[in-house]
Amino acid sequence: MSITTRAAITRAPHVGWELVDLQLDEPKAHEVRVKLMAAGLCHSDDHITTGDAPIRLPVVGGHEGAGIVESVGPDVQRVKPGDKIVCSYIPACGACRPCSTGHSNMCVKGLNAGTGMFEDGTWRFHEGDTDIGGFCTLGTFSQYAVVSEWATVPLREDFQDIPWEVLCLVGCGVPTGWGSAVHAAGVRAGDTVVIFGAGGVGSNAVQGARFAGAKNVVVVDPVEFKR
Ligand SMILES: NC(=O)c1ccc[n+]([C@@H]2O[C@H](COP(=O)([O-])OP(=O)(O)OC[C@H]3O[C@@H](n4cnc5c(N)ncnc54)[C@H](O)[C@@H]3O)[C@@H](O)[C@H]2O)c1
Ligand SMILES: [Zn+2]
Ligand SMILES: [Zn+2]
Repeated sequence: MSITTRAAITRAPHVGWELVDLQLDEPKAHEVRVKLMAAGLCHSDDHITTGDAPIRLPVVGGHEGAGIVESVGPDVQRVKPGDKIVCSYIPACGACRPCSTGHSNMCVKGLNAGTGMFEDGTWRFHEGDTDIGGFCTLGTFSQYAVVSEWATVPLREDFQDIPWEVLCLVGCGVPTGWGSAVHAAGVRAGDTVVIFGAGGVGSNAVQGARFAGAKNVVVVDPVEFKR
């Protein structure tokens, strides 16, 4: 059964976010409906409203989210109703060629990030007759969202008490910053690392560089309180 969900959408560049009531379908095969408990605001969401990230509009914003699985569609194996999950802005099916060769950042299930369209060519959010996608096929600026089971990461037993507003950040900013230092830059013990921008990504790049053993970590940011 479809439900009504309050969501923040943007209809066009430079008009900002608008709170609306949308209809949200029930999950289809390999999809889950999530009750979102917290969402992060990544700068990539802002790039939608400025037109710097040209994607299909209108769109439900948000690609960092954590919540509770409300219901599941047929054939879902990764999670069950009641599970606490973090959404991943790139799905990882574990079975496609990129996933099975260690490159889940290029999972083929992530092809529709800019349209929010699901694999069967349809959308789950609707405003009257208008189909609306979720950013990165998530749309976490909403009370509820339907997402691919491959975009869910169930919480380990010993992570259950982490606050929602901390958990949601693990969906984009944390792995992007951490991975930039540890994997992309390949920081090694004793390195001196310079990080430009002390925001969501940059502050996690600091943590990654520190973890990898950097001797000096220099952060450049024009905003005083960020420094
Ligand atoms: N996987 C990805 O490709 C990915 C994931 C997340 C974010 N991003 C992108 O990374 C960028 C940062 O995202 P965020 O969420 O960390 O943003 P943020 O707004 O949290 O942080 C950006 C920081 O950059 C600082 N800054 C601005 N101008 C600067 C300058 N000239 N020199 C140094 N610092 C400067 C700002 O003061 C701010 O602290 C955005 O463009 C975002 O879209 C990409
Ligand atoms: Zn992001
Ligand atoms: Zn895959």
